[in-house]
Amino acid sequence: MSDPNPDHDHTAVVHDAAQIVTVEADGSLGIYEDAAIAVVDGEVTRVGATGPVTREYPPENAEYAIDARGKAVVPGFVDPHTHALFAGDRSDEFEAKLRGKTYQEILAEGGGILRTVRATREASDEELLSHLLSHLDTMLAHGTTTVEVKSGYGLDTATELRMLDVIARANDRHPVDVVPTFMGAHAVPEGRDADDYVDEVVDEQIPAVAEQGIARFCDVFCEEGVFSVPQSRRVLVTGEEHGLTPKVHAEELAHIGGTQLAAQLGATSADHLLYATQEDIDAVTDAGVVPVLLPGTAFGLGAEYADARAFLDAGAPVAVATDFNPNCYSQSMEFAASLSCVEMGMTPAEALVAGTKNAAQALDMDDGTGTLQPGTPGDIAVLDAPSYVHVPYNFGVNVVETVLKGGEVVHHE
Ligand code: NIG
Ligand code: FE
Repeated sequence: MSDPNPDHDHTAVVHDAAQIVTVEADGSLGIYEDAAIAVVDGEVTRVGATGPVTREYPPENAEYAIDARGKAVVPGFVDPHTHALFAGDRSDEFEAKLRGKTYQEILAEGGGILRTVRATREASDEELLSHLLSHLDTMLAHGTTTVEVKSGYGLDTATELRMLDVIARANDRHPVDVVPTFMGAHAVPEGRDADDYVDEVVDEQIPAVAEQGIARFCDVFCEEGVFSVPQSRRVLVTGEEHGLTPKVHAEELAHIGGTQLAAQLGATSADHLLYATQEDIDAVTDAGVVPVLLPGTAFGLGAEYADARAFLDAGAPVAVATDFNPNCYSQSMEFAASLSCVEMGMTPAEALVAGTKNAAQALDMDDGTGTLQPGTPGDIAVLDAPSYVHVPYNFGVNVVETVLKGGEVVHHE
């Protein structure tokens, strides 16, 4: 059958929205009321008042026409830090932590990451893929359209490569864009010495990962009792020599200097930063390193939150992520936004920019993802709520109703 509207195929029009929110180049919000947005061939072409936009792009000719009366429209969320590929869960450790056990105590007993490593090594590729796809479904339902996923529950060359391969397959199969990060230096495997394991990461894992050609970034858990600053530096420098851009887990549980390392290496991001000092904040800001704050982790650990205001005052492009992993079991950027506001003192506007434009910057994306500016990807979340403020305000609830990825409806409640 011939297409009745060949000219308007691959067009999406969301119209009569109570509010459409874009992110401007300076990081402020553009707020359009009684508005429409048009997406053609995957890219935003027009945002503005419903009348003129729908005259140019009549909804009746569009492949997808969404009447958004009473609803707000925001950029799809970008989640720039997750460990979403793993087998098993650690709900029993959640209970142990509630009884007072610390994250480090659990790890030192062979639990925590090391336990997830055992479960992940035992799982088949198909099991791992199906777990990841199901987590991506949950993320998408909560408005996430791009997510970074790290390896790091293999801690040996074969399993790390397998994880990256599963991440690539999930990216092919699922509408959410998945950005792969190699994190062989996520923990010291049981019975191994840290220096000896770093030798393996540097001499064996990184060259194999580079040859496989999937990973974009190389991350390291630079932490007291895990990898020291010199060990982390070795991993990240070797990664860079093999084409992997550095990222750092820095000052999550203690202050050991990972943030300064990120600044010295010009890493794309420094993440966690609970114990970052003012010198650290100035250093990452001057070096153009994106601070990625993970309030869900502090929430789950019952820890202090990162000082988001100090980073914002310094002029840093603060990003927020879920850190979804078996120790921080939330796939929801909406919940991260609620914590950003209530626990880290960010405004709803700052939280929205942190989970869209700045999060895309934390993944080195330069195509305008997370902004809804003309010429950028048509990744859109339509809320069952009249304003973007409801994302953090209506906590513990999913306010996302419809999600478009590149102008295609990929989720509808
Ligand atoms: O970002 N800190 C290291 N990695 C994760 C935790 C992973 C895990 O506990 O399984 C994080 O918090
Ligand atoms: Fe992490």
